[in-house]
Amino acid sequence: SLGMIVPDAANPFFAEVARGVETCAFSLGYTVILCNSDGDLVREQAYLDVLIEKRVDGIVFVAAGESRDHFQSLLEQEIQVVVVDRDMPGLKVDCVLVDNYDGGLQATAHLIHHGHRRIACLAGPHEVTPSADRVRGYRQALADAGIRFDPALLVYGDFHTDSGYLAAAELLELPDRPTAIFVCNDLMAIGVMAAVQEAGLRIPRNMAVVGFDDIALASYSLPRLTTVAQPSQKMGELAAQLLVARIENPDRSPERHLLLTRLVVRESA
Ligand code: RIB
Repeated sequence: SLGMIVPDAANPFFAEVARGVETCAFSLGYTVILCNSDGDLVREQAYLDVLIEKRVDGIVFVAAGESRDHFQSLLEQEIQVVVVDRDMPGLKVDCVLVDNYDGGLQATAHLIHHGHRRIACLAGPHEVTPSADRVRGYRQALADAGIRFDPALLVYGDFHTDSGYLAAAELLELPDRPTAIFVCNDLMAIGVMAAVQEAGLRIPRNMAVVGFDDIALASYSLPRLTTVAQPSQKMGELAAQLLVARIENPDRSPERHLLLTRLVVRESA
């Protein structure tokens, strides 16, 4: 059996990664126990303890946040682990990550290409590495185009829809409001679009919006969401393959995979 712990089981991105893990693991003769840390370090430790007690053969680990200490204790337990999505820099473990920096750069360059100069960025939680890397890509795209970074246009949410709705209202209050927003995940982007439309603005005419993840909902929102697609199912499948290979051969050298993202242009930008 394998354990998997994710920061938010209700977020379709993690559900799609988990589906990839389960599909591959089951085909290899393993069952998967899915745990939700809800982004909370206390819960994360509690579930890791349970998975260790149940003697699972390995764990697919998506960190809740500053989870390095929890991760170290896992390694001391001689339990096999693969890290997905949220990096553990400096630790020699199997990792399945995406190029979040490039994803943020692509999203912002797309908005610049369409003439936007006042581009806001709604980031996820400060301590989450994928979000920080997307913000770096956003800032690099601005610099490449000679656009001065305005700190007032960088705001933070918690990757849930409500925080996108509230952050958009804050950005719309700015005296010189943005004409475009790069949002670091699709759930917040959906909240952003609701707030922008409730303010009587049109998307993309008055406010362009780009998300990140490409969850299934992005193809059905109104307008359809332009977003940076993560290969979520493939991330899960690869993570399961690496974990089973390590369980069956603990002396393998760790592999660090950095998968590519892809900009999917729809109607919101
Ligand atoms: O939607 C949740 C976000 O947190 C995703 O972008 C994923 O990369 C994770 O870090």
